[in-house]
Amino acid sequence: MQNLIFTNDVDSALNRLTAGSRHNMTVFIADVNTARFALGKERLIVIPDGDTGKSLATVCRVWDSLEQFGATRHSLVINMGGGMVTDLGGFAAATFKRGMRFINVPTTLLAAVDAAVGGKTGFNYNGLKNEIGAFAPASDVIISTRYFDTLPVQEMKSGFAEVIKHAMLSDRGEFMRLLEHDFDAPIDHDDLLERLRSSVQVKRDIVARDPNEQGERKALNLGHTIGHAFEALAMQRGKPVPHGYAVAWGLVTEAVLSHLILKFPSNDVHLLGNFVRDNYRDFPFTCDDYDQLLTLMRHDKKSHDGEISCTLLASIGDYHINQTLTPGDVTAALDILRDHLGL
Ligand code: GLY
Repeated sequence: MQNLIFTNDVDSALNRLTAGSRHNMTVFIADVNTARFALGKERLIVIPDGDTGKSLATVCRVWDSLEQFGATRHSLVINMGGGMVTDLGGFAAATFKRGMRFINVPTTLLAAVDAAVGGKTGFNYNGLKNEIGAFAPASDVIISTRYFDTLPVQEMKSGFAEVIKHAMLSDRGEFMRLLEHDFDAPIDHDDLLERLRSSVQVKRDIVARDPNEQGERKALNLGHTIGHAFEALAMQRGKPVPHGYAVAWGLVTEAVLSHLILKFPSNDVHLLGNFVRDNYRDFPFTCDDYDQLLTLMRHDKKSHDGEISCTLLASIGDYHINQTLTPGDVTAALDILRDHLGL
């Protein structure tokens, strides 16, 4: 089980984790934006930021640097950054000399609630996202909101969609609390850290029961079957949208589908739809895109034999994996989503 530490005093947490440690050296991995958080560290590997740098070439550069430092299986890697750093740095550490311990210190909300926790590591290959990778959990994840003050609001919104997803899988009270969130207000660090504690716990519990995604872990894909199709289509058009925006639209669409198929309460569809309309509004798709979106959904990693499959809810907290959708279900839900967003 991963050790999760929720604190805004990251340095003390790191000192406690490494004090008296049996490791012969510590190597930090960060990207060009987060290297400043690791300044002054004796051994630091700086990798490019962004999805294009999430490549085999970057993994090789990390391995080369680890070799040059003389790292061994008894060394420790500390990944400081967003999901790209924790995914790629985690993979490099998990495979170098057959694997060394690594700690994740996520610096974005998205990484703190999703990528850094649960052991998925990897990189993009042949134009496919996260095509090569391994399940390899960080021994410890230090979750802090101290990095978020300088995050663009778009980044905060992007991560927040995953926080809402976790609440939809677990707890209506938490779901209602989250829908009160005001992205224009300054961050209340104590409150946000509490929200993260509840949120990440949902993911940790599901992953503990199904670490390799044989069944229940698919629940964490709520909002993603349709969300990934939005994200991929936007990417194909050269106008990428933030991951969490696509997830937010995917969550509403899948909430509509949940209502149509499993009688998920319409009131909760509306509450979610209103929040998404108010905060994630610029939805750049029309009914002319439905065929392409359906094609993308059929090719999603989560679909089999050309059938579209996703997780749906009968109510908040009552999730059902492996739900098969017809094209008619999906287009009906997309119509309702566009109506709700006023498009
Ligand atoms: N991002 C979903 C999972 O880690 O399973």
